[in-house]
Amino acid sequence: MTLLGDAVGLLGRVVGTVARPVLAPLLAPLVTPLVEQEVSTQVSHVVSEHAADAPHVPPNDLLEHAMVYGDRAKLHIDPTAVINNALFNLSSGEITVERYAFFGHNVSVLTGTHDITTFDAERQVAVPKSGRDIVIGRGVWVSSNATVLGPCRIGEHAVVAAGALVTGDVDPLTVVAGFPAKPVKKLDPPPAA
Ligand SMILES: CC(C)(COP(=O)(O)OP(=O)(O)OC[C@H]1O[C@@H](n2cnc3c(N)ncnc32)[C@H](O)[C@@H]1OP(=O)(O)O)[C@@H](O)C(=O)NCCC(=O)NCCS
Repeated sequence: MTLLGDAVGLLGRVVGTVARPVLAPLLAPLVTPLVEQEVSTQVSHVVSEHAADAPHVPPNDLLEHAMVYGDRAKLHIDPTAVINNALFNLSSGEITVERYAFFGHNVSVLTGTHDITTFDAERQVAVPKSGRDIVIGRGVWVSSNATVLGPCRIGEHAVVAAGALVTGDVDPLTVVAGFPAKPVKKLDPPPAA
């Protein structure tokens, strides 16, 4: 080290120590947006690379849009219920979803049926207009990929397991699972209000 080198090094440290607290607040408003912009660009590159890997995957907002087949006037959903992208078939009855009931994704709730004693063109249109109502009771959780066939009533606070096929009434506070769904568990009632 030369004397000049030591002097320059010392000067640099002094300037750095004194200048940093003064300059940092002044530069922050200029530098922060640049850093944020760079991070955002990098993140969107990563996201679009993944989107390119799976161009067939629809945007997530489709997971929150229910599909209704038939007369919407026959569908009664409490405003507190969550139905995600359920399919409601109203061909042969009314569907009621009560307070705080909620669904996973890809739940089908089907009142419609065809008269299987008929054939060909007749079978295609042999659809009763009523008689297969479905009620999904208060607080019921219908898990992802479950199918509910009418007529049935799913009692309050019951749980329908993922992928289950409900073909009849479910008692309140009962967990049902399987294909067709059978009771697998009983739940304690909620504490009295
Ligand atoms: C219904 C559910 C909540 C029950 O969970 P749990 O109380 O922990 O139940 P357990 O794991 O103790 O299972 C109880 C019995 O039911 C069976 N079972 C549980 N879920 C099942 C399913 N989806 N299909 C078939 N059988 C199932 C278990 O094998 C077990 O049978 P066993 O007693 O013969 O061993 C859970 O299994 C489930 O299906 N969750 C849905 C997840 C989902 O859809 N998430 C998306 C977000 S909404």
